[in-house]
Amino acid sequence: MEQLKGLILSGGKGTRLRPITHTSAKQLVPVANKPVLFYGLEAMAEAGIAEVGIVIAPETGSEIERAVGDGSRFGLRVRYILQEEPLGLAHAVLTAEGFLGESPFVMYLGDNLLQGGIADLVAAFREHAPDALILLTPVPDPQNYGVAELAPATAAGEPRAVLRLVEKPVQPTTDLALVGVYMFTAQIHDAARAISPSARGELEITDAIQHLVDGGMRVEPHIVRGWWKDTGRLEDLLEANRLILDTILERIGGELLDCRVDGRVVIEAGARLERTTVRGPAIIGAGARLYDCYVGPYTAIGEGCEITNSEVEHSILLEGCTVCNLDGRMESSLLGRNVTVRRGDSQPRAYRFLVGDNSDLSIL
Ligand code: TTP
Repeated sequence: MEQLKGLILSGGKGTRLRPITHTSAKQLVPVANKPVLFYGLEAMAEAGIAEVGIVIAPETGSEIERAVGDGSRFGLRVRYILQEEPLGLAHAVLTAEGFLGESPFVMYLGDNLLQGGIADLVAAFREHAPDALILLTPVPDPQNYGVAELAPATAAGEPRAVLRLVEKPVQPTTDLALVGVYMFTAQIHDAARAISPSARGELEITDAIQHLVDGGMRVEPHIVRGWWKDTGRLEDLLEANRLILDTILERIGGELLDCRVDGRVVIEAGARLERTTVRGPAIIGAGARLYDCYVGPYTAIGEGCEITNSEVEHSILLEGCTVCNLDGRMESSLLGRNVTVRRGDSQPRAYRFLVGDNSDLSIL
């Protein structure tokens, strides 16, 4: 088989993660203090892929280029492909045609996380040589996903044939959702050219794959065994953070004074904690300062955050946040960069906010 290339989709609008995505790419939101996109790049390198194209949008492309660079630190050669408008995943493939040429490729959605990487899938793709390989996983709410209907099993061990793909079915007949990692041969380019935009105005990858199925091509389904997360919404992002933190290994690089640290906790070099309890799994970024705090399980505190006299649990704080003198515990929260949350001491006691567009505050 020709050299396999990688294609990571990191354009899009990211409307479901506003306001974070007003100022930053959603693929760079950190999960356990590492940008989501980096997990995809690492998975590509681990699977032996050398050349990766990253599809970027005009608004956030330069930020992604700055973060990833030429890819050498991942052991990859990275090229950037500008998609002027987010006109769908199949449109992104067409935009990348010049980079992909006739090569088979792995397409990976830049905001997705797949436990266990893609090395096994790449091996299956090479071995069985189908025209496309799709990844599926059972979900409790298939109406929110693209789903695949499969033919009944024939011989034991034989992959079942893909019959039909449906984008967000109103009355799903299967619970098998498409995971955001796909393997294609160059056949997909003609399929993407042959389809028309969907009701939401996008060239859907599900329609392009359906076109392959209808044309008698071999589309092999692969049921994913580990977990998979699309981090495009807050709840999923927090869950991805939880799943990754569950796998970290304890490492204390910072300075601790009168502290208690339970369970698997990473404290990066240059962080300083005083009179603070950290209950893992949790990660505290480099240069963070925590005084008289409680940090609960499944929390990722970004670089240089300052937290004083407060409790934080099951949350992600991006770099440079300040949290001070909170009355209650902050939980299931995502704070963007340099956000300040504090209890003031002047009268009258009232809530005072300076909050950007589409922010979401809950006060109980
Ligand atoms: P989505 O999460 O489906 O789309 P989106 O980024 O527009 O998000 P939202 O629905 O919240 O507005 O996209 C999946 C991945 O593919 C994500 O990393 C963005 C990327 N993408 C592109 O690169 N080009 C596109 O045209 C689209 C639609 C998505």
